[in-house]
Amino acid sequence: MRAWQPSALFRHIEALQGGQPWGAVLDAGTGTNSIRWVTSIETGRWVAVSGAVAHAAQVRDVAEPVRRAQDRIIVGNWADPQLLAGERFDTVLADYLIGAVEGFAPYFQERMFARLHGMTAGRLYLVGLEPYVAGDPGTEPGRIVWEIGRYRDACLLLSGERPYREFPMEWVLERLEASGWRVIDAKRFPIRYGARFVNSQIDMSLRRLEAMPDRVLAAALRTQGEGIRDRALTAVARLDGLRHGFDYTIAAEPLSR
Ligand SMILES: C[S@@+](CC[C@H](N)C(=O)[O-])C[C@H]1O[C@@H](n2cnc3c(N)ncnc32)[C@H](O)[C@@H]1O
Repeated sequence: MRAWQPSALFRHIEALQGGQPWGAVLDAGTGTNSIRWVTSIETGRWVAVSGAVAHAAQVRDVAEPVRRAQDRIIVGNWADPQLLAGERFDTVLADYLIGAVEGFAPYFQERMFARLHGMTAGRLYLVGLEPYVAGDPGTEPGRIVWEIGRYRDACLLLSGERPYREFPMEWVLERLEASGWRVIDAKRFPIRYGARFVNSQIDMSLRRLEAMPDRVLAAALRTQGEGIRDRALTAVARLDGLRHGFDYTIAAEPLSR
């Protein structure tokens, strides 16, 4: 029995793997959650890649107690052709990576599929989030989640940062197939957002306001953020969470070229 219990998404990935060895594993967009999973399965070795030094440090803290000599944490950018050049992995995990690429290598999202193709000897498991900062979703919980996302992204943009940009599962499937992958499985997982999501998104946005030169605008945005928080937390309690949108997993194998 593992001390750490994987999410339904990781359990689905494990079922798809069906007992085949994981071998050498690449966690191509690492974070504390994916590294917990990678270190909980039986790998020959693993490499975890992040575009951010701070992110890699958090991953190191989590992985250090179980990291073996052959396991590596690397800070680099997938847009750099030298990153892990010539290395191949039996299993590649892209866990919420595509949505985050906008923050590190904007416009590189499509090329990520070709980039990972050359490195995958066995299987790619991709985890993504169906975009929710799009059109009016037309439901009460959906509108609250949409409002939180728009507010967060506005704060990030006003403070000079690039928000994440998620992509629909259908888009990813199309781009994978166009980039030489055979899709084996695709599955959506409905999301129920809770108070932790609401508070983390609003708190992260408020931190961005601290350095904003226009203090009048910052104060107005703070008031707006706290108003969204109050309404969202009330709705979370009344509706037992905000049921809106999907995470998804995709399993694919490279076709030989
Ligand atoms: C949203 S986080 C991934 C979440 C993570 N798997 C977890 O456990 O929660 C995205 C990760 O992908 C990395 N990333 C995004 N674009 C990248 C790029 N172009 N090159 C390298 N790493 C990148 C980020 O630095 C970060 O480590």
